[in-house]
Amino acid sequence: MRTQVGIVGAGPAGLLLAHLLGRDGIGSVVVERRSREHLERRVRAGVLEQGTTDLLDTAGVGERMRREGMVHHGIELRFGGDGHRIDFAALTGGYGITVYGQQEVVKDLLAAREAAGALPLFECEDVEPAGLDGDRPAIHFIHAGERHELQCEIVAGCDGSHGVCLPSAPNGALVAYEREYPFAWLGILAEVAPSTEELIYARHERGFALHSMRSPVLSRFYLQCERDADPGDWTDERIWDELRTRLALDLASGPIVEKGVTPMRSFVVEPMQSGRLFLAGDAAHIVPPTGAKGLNLAVADVRVLAAALRDHFATGDDAGLRAYSDTCLRRVWRAEHFSWWMTSMLHRFPDGAGFEEKLQRSQLEYVVGSEAAATTLAENYVGLGTA
Ligand code: FAD
Ligand code: DHB
Repeated sequence: MRTQVGIVGAGPAGLLLAHLLGRDGIGSVVVERRSREHLERRVRAGVLEQGTTDLLDTAGVGERMRREGMVHHGIELRFGGDGHRIDFAALTGGYGITVYGQQEVVKDLLAAREAAGALPLFECEDVEPAGLDGDRPAIHFIHAGERHELQCEIVAGCDGSHGVCLPSAPNGALVAYEREYPFAWLGILAEVAPSTEELIYARHERGFALHSMRSPVLSRFYLQCERDADPGDWTDERIWDELRTRLALDLASGPIVEKGVTPMRSFVVEPMQSGRLFLAGDAAHIVPPTGAKGLNLAVADVRVLAAALRDHFATGDDAGLRAYSDTCLRRVWRAEHFSWWMTSMLHRFPDGAGFEEKLQRSQLEYVVGSEAAATTLAENYVGLGTA
């Protein structure tokens, strides 16, 4: 098998890259280890920046998102029992975000790939990039019981935080920066109308809570929990009690249809490229989800990579490919800082009683009391601060 760009991973990054390259007449093959059903059911992020929705629109995959996505122009910060609205539109000159589930983005991209007759190869095993430091890279894998070698010019590592591309990069070429947090998030999807119009981020003595949504009849919640929490220990009753307490809200409840624990980590690898390997999305960087940046960063990387590959294949101009890592890392580090800052401000740290708690409270009061501080939050959240 031969193609121009071999892509590992059919998450948002890999699918969008394949789609954008296809529109420019550049061939690619996406190799994915999971099934299509699994990808379409995987509940993850839900907040899209305007830059993300604009790109999906111009790429021709934004039609359902525009119809079903919910545009929000603010969020609420809740602490000490009171709510405070951060008015994105007023603070950023009209910007907002769109609430639309990541798995819906994935469904839309898969539908577009299907229409182009270029679906990913699903359920691949033993996926292994090779020859990344030479000029004849390849991806080895087993598909439908047969061993394949996909020869390509460029390998795009879009295989997320536990992928094979990053570990395949030539030894010593990349430097990783990392931070672990002493807690995790329990994510819940419930068949009940949201009890709020806008997202609520709550800091509470018992820990962080977030009220988000997916549709007028589907709510999404997150609760700070222990790093090694077992979702089985969280009964529906315990979840609703805890949400009501932490959100200080008269919450409507309904059947919980999904729950899972997500660890919290900050991670960046530099540079995001090694030889013929270009990393994009979670394969290159992870943020704790408090700033809602993970999916948006993946889309931003792919925008830069697709443009650089267009120049490479159209004219042989490699300036974009050489600048790829530096261009992306500026946005990545801004989002890393914002995500760390939001996480630090809103969570209960196990050994944070006393001094740290007083600082958190002071910071929250400053953010909701000062237009300058609120603007910092707003422009980073909508994505202007990471442009
Ligand atoms: P991914 O979506 O991870 O896609 C990578 C793809 O590569 C996957 O389909 C995977 O199956 C495939 N793959 C992996 N290894 C191989 C291999 N060896 N061979 C072939 N294919 C492979 N962000 C937020 O902003 N808010 C959230 O609430 C939030 N919740 C999250 C919950 C979870 C459980 C996780 C894991 C992430 C969450 N994120 C959240 C982060 C956000 O979802 C990611 O930033 C986003 O998915 C990044 O897209 P991606 O395409 O780079 O990676
Ligand atoms: C959602 C996820 C986030 O990480 C966040 O900060 C806000 C909303 C969500 O899944 O809806």
